[in-house]
Amino acid sequence: MPKPAPPAPRAAVPDAWREHIDRVLISREEIAARVQALGAEISRDFAGRDTVIVAVLNGTVLFLADLIRNLTIPVRLDFVGVSSYGAGTHPGELAVTKACRLDVRGRDVLVVDDILDTGKTLDRVTTQLRQFKPRRLRTCVLLDKKARRQVKIRGDYTGFQIPDEFVVGYGLDFAERYRSLPFIAVLKPEVFQAGGAGKPSRPSRPAA
Ligand code: IMP
Ligand code: MG
Repeated sequence: MPKPAPPAPRAAVPDAWREHIDRVLISREEIAARVQALGAEISRDFAGRDTVIVAVLNGTVLFLADLIRNLTIPVRLDFVGVSSYGAGTHPGELAVTKACRLDVRGRDVLVVDDILDTGKTLDRVTTQLRQFKPRRLRTCVLLDKKARRQVKIRGDYTGFQIPDEFVVGYGLDFAERYRSLPFIAVLKPEVFQAGGAGKPSRPSRPAA
């Protein structure tokens, strides 16, 4: 299957970030337009329901803040924390660092995450939430890197399909940096190499 093309035209890298960023993949304007459309779609689908939004920490902060301001339905908010175990255990094994506190039984639940990569994080979170018997459980992801999927899962609402590249910005990080960028970007390879001795040239999945 051909890789989906990134959105065009490509925005210029702001001067302040030239040293770190190779290129902007999705501009802030493109994000804003898409998040507005997602908000409208979700508001339509969840209208009249008592909705609980469960967002995955930490990468969703910017996306979530914009998304919920584009909703016209009342929602309650909660967060879950999921992170990869450190070195020494199986890569990709996940630990829940914060559980959902709101009662989701019989509720309409929307799980929000920044990016669907292998799918393990979203699979883990949705499997756990289903145990509490929500009336309906849907997922919303800003980005989808389909090529890397290991678990069969898809976002019910997806912002953008992106190619198999490590991206930062708009909440997404590399080693906890770059989350505050207002756009989604690809880092220069030397940034990964400078990440420290023993770091892979392509970053391993950082803690979510
Ligand atoms: P998954 O469990 O492999 O689907 O990965 C999901 C988590 O890995 C996301 O919530 C992110 O925190 C992180 N992640 C995956 N790909 C990227 C990326 O390209 N940039 C930054 N974080 C990423
Ligand atoms: Mg994450």
